Amino acid sequence: MQALIDTDPGIDDALALLYAWGSPGLTVAGITTVAGNVEVHDATVNLFRLLGLRRPQPEPPVAQGAAQPLARPLVTAKGYHGVDGLGDLPDWPAVHPSLPAIDAADFILDMTRHATEPLTLIALGPLTNVAHALTRGHETLHRLARVVVMGGAVDVPGNVTPTAEFNLHVDPEAAVRVLDSGLRLDLVPLDATRQAVVVRADLARTLARRPGPLATRIAAFTERGFRVDAERGTAGMILHDPLAVAVAIDPTLVQWESTRLTVGADGTTRRAAGPPNCRVARVVDVPRFLAAFLDRLCPAS
Ligand code: BDR
Ligand code: CA
Repeated sequence: MQALIDTDPGIDDALALLYAWGSPGLTVAGITTVAGNVEVHDATVNLFRLLGLRRPQPEPPVAQGAAQPLARPLVTAKGYHGVDGLGDLPDWPAVHPSLPAIDAADFILDMTRHATEPLTLIALGPLTNVAHALTRGHETLHRLARVVVMGGAVDVPGNVTPTAEFNLHVDPEAAVRVLDSGLRLDLVPLDATRQAVVVRADLARTLARRPGPLATRIAAFTERGFRVDAERGTAGMILHDPLAVAVAIDPTLVQWESTRLTVGADGTTRRAAGPPNCRVARVVDVPRFLAAFLDRLCPAS
């Protein structure tokens, strides 16, 4: 399958990208950045750091997207991901992002229009770019095979407010537009991602089997994620965005529920009466997910 990834790297976004690049059944046809965990420029810098580190082949084209949510100021998640978004390591090589003249929304529309097979769009950040693409090319976006979104907290507490999840909280207006769009939408909310926890020893064991600069760097930038998740009472690190990539590749990794969701003003997702507008990931086959994730994250160098 071929996919576009829209992302705001972000520690778990970084893991999701590395996992996607190591997944044989998936071709990452293009990547777009969006403001979320950090400002969009820093998200783009982080993406180019990761491209330089991993050098996926073929190297996917990249476009930068929205600097601000549709209708409100940006709220970032630097408390979790670090001021730079990737754990504040002091020694990343300098990167010089080269970007096309078009922005992420036009890039997504162009790629969708010219794809040789229907693409899957995997959205790992606030939905601002996807909403802009819908505004500019609603019909074109309906050529997508699926849209897989990491976001929402349906029957569980939120992670930025008592009820709201970060990606939907940052840009609720965009989330409303996407949920109302009629696109084939698979939502991967906190209900599912909180099951997808990797413990430090398992990641360390995997990285020790594949020593090299990539393994060293993964260990370094995940350190902060493990620390903050531990402070919040999790026995490991929650793999929000990697789970979204995983179910894009293999939807049988989770049990789905078709339902109708609405998004409140602060990004809270709530069930509503009426025909389904998405499928929501519920129960995760955690052993199968973690086995695939750990196997593909860091190839032997
Ligand atoms: C989501 O918020 C971000 O901080 C993570 O990267 C993930 O996409 C989890 O709520
Ligand atoms: Ca993210």
